[in-house]
Amino acid sequence: MPETAFINGRFLPLAAATVSIEDRGFQFGDGVYEVIRTYGGRPFKVEAHLARLEHSAQAIGLRQPYARERWAQYILEGLRLAAFPEAKIYLQITRGMAPRDHAYTQELEPTVVMTVRDLRPQDPTLQAAGVLAMTTEDIRWGRCDIKSVNLLANVLARQQAKQAGVFEAILIREGRMTEGAVSNVMVVRDGILVTAPEGAHILSGVTRGIVLDLARRGGLPVEERYCSRQELMGAAEVFLTGTTVEVLGVVGIDGKPIGSGAPGPVTHNLAKRFQEQTG
Ligand SMILES: Cc1ncc(COP(=O)(O)O)c(C=O)c1O
Repeated sequence: MPETAFINGRFLPLAAATVSIEDRGFQFGDGVYEVIRTYGGRPFKVEAHLARLEHSAQAIGLRQPYARERWAQYILEGLRLAAFPEAKIYLQITRGMAPRDHAYTQELEPTVVMTVRDLRPQDPTLQAAGVLAMTTEDIRWGRCDIKSVNLLANVLARQQAKQAGVFEAILIREGRMTEGAVSNVMVVRDGILVTAPEGAHILSGVTRGIVLDLARRGGLPVEERYCSRQELMGAAEVFLTGTTVEVLGVVGIDGKPIGSGAPGPVTHNLAKRFQEQTG
């Protein structure tokens, strides 16, 4: 079975997988998710992703359907069935099916969905040349640490980026940079790596955690604090981190070059050391 889906404990071809229109994920975006990728066919940082899924579920009062070991087994089974060289695994838990009403009852059975799809490696020229980005107002809600399927503000920001012909939308909340629409953002200024702190205004990225750890271990000072849009625009280097973007240099924002206009040495170094972790 190539593109593979899983619904509530059952594997089936993706094209045959459906859920009810009364699912609260569909009606309200009432659910949480994770995206995991493989390297060399093996899922990367499963524990960290499952820990974050637990955090997200708990934060919205959603019962975890499976213990981590069971999730891990299902993921491996999905990978085996799909048999792609590299795969992208999507996990989603929604509050389940009920007649439409904002408030919910405790006895709902969560809907658990997984998909396993082919993952094409990122275009290596993107890594070498870097990407462009734009800034836009962060209009998301006050719990961005929850990886909620309710992604409307991210959808709109990402579409703005697409229409502007750039790779990512960098979100600004009250003059301060939070993160990207689908990534965390890091800035290098005066030899210091600056990125927004964990908390309600960003998703605590698994890749962010790995990269900050690599930076600290490599002797690079790290400041987890908000930086202003001006600091962002005047940075020596800017890069994105994320499961699918990995470590990706940003060479221009809002039509202005960043640093030398090419990915800088800190970005290169961290991208290379991140790659070493994935081997
Ligand atoms: C809003 C947002 N921030 C950050 C990230 C990066 O997180 P991770 O490194 O865990 O993929 C993502 C990934 O999808 C995201 O959607």
